[in-house]
Amino acid sequence: MQNHEPAIECAQIVITLAITSQKGGVGKTTTAVNLAYALAKRGWHTLLIDTDPQGSVGLSLSERARKCPGFYDAVNTGAPALPLILQTRLPELELLTAGQTHSFFSVAAEGINAEAEIRRILSEVGQRRYDIVLFDTPAGLGGLTGSILRHSNFALVPQQAEPLGLRSIPQVLEALRFLRRDGSQIELAGILLTMVQQDQPQAQDVIRELRSLLPGRLLLDAMVPRDPVFLQASSAGVPLGLLHRHPPASAHVFDQLAAELEVRMRLKSPTPDTNEFTRLMD
Ligand SMILES: Nc1ncnc2c1ncn2[C@@H]1O[C@H](COP(=O)(O)OP(=O)(O)OP(=O)(O)O)[C@@H](O)[C@H]1O
Ligand SMILES: [Mg+2]
Repeated sequence: MQNHEPAIECAQIVITLAITSQKGGVGKTTTAVNLAYALAKRGWHTLLIDTDPQGSVGLSLSERARKCPGFYDAVNTGAPALPLILQTRLPELELLTAGQTHSFFSVAAEGINAEAEIRRILSEVGQRRYDIVLFDTPAGLGGLTGSILRHSNFALVPQQAEPLGLRSIPQVLEALRFLRRDGSQIELAGILLTMVQQDQPQAQDVIRELRSLLPGRLLLDAMVPRDPVFLQASSAGVPLGLLHRHPPASAHVFDQLAAELEVRMRLKSPTPDTNEFTRLMD
């Protein structure tokens, strides 16, 4: 932690969270950028790693960042990752861009042991004492995503609130089960409904269907509404929270999401008394 210290049980443990989905365009990058910002604003020293070969995080934040060497350069050349990490205006938030993949057809060069490179990068990152490392991944489990998931503590699965999207959830859950059987520690942090149109009856049906299909707590309470401000924010290259002096209402969803994930990822112990409050004066 750098400046202020949130209530914390295990400050020195780096938690790795991969944002993943089988389907494309469901809001992974939007979630990664806005969640990373929300976690950093809450005081957690956060590193966002873009592992999408399209460099979507860099693209949505800054054209300059898009061109910097990053994750894939470290994987392919064995170069240390720490010098490639970029600072942001928020001291608690740092960024490792995607950088250059090996070629259009293959993200890693022949002979590269991607699994070992990811382990090396994570162990380097561990020296910086981040509280949380967030991976934005491309759609599906191709490329290095399987290896990234294998070495992550948690997966967050954004899911568009539409009937067709539901079909991919069992595949993601099965992939996580497979990794766990194969020795990975990964846990599902939750499924996050995105682009929710609260006024549409279909969206309500999807939410109901998901609640009935999914065991217990898998669906997160926070839901991201469909809102044109997301397009505005990504054209301006900022998280929603920085779009206006008074951030739009949708920005607060990511504070709620960050608070929920702090508990689920054991960054903060769940309070035994849900009515716990802090007095303004003693
Ligand atoms: N809640 C939302 N409301 C409106 N537009 C959104 C919302 N979330 C994301 N978008 C827009 O939808 C598009 C896809 O979002 P995003 O890039 O975050 O998805 P993705 O899952 O990362 O896609 P990919 O699989 O290609 O990496 C972007 O243009 C983004 O601005
Ligand atoms: Mg993306």
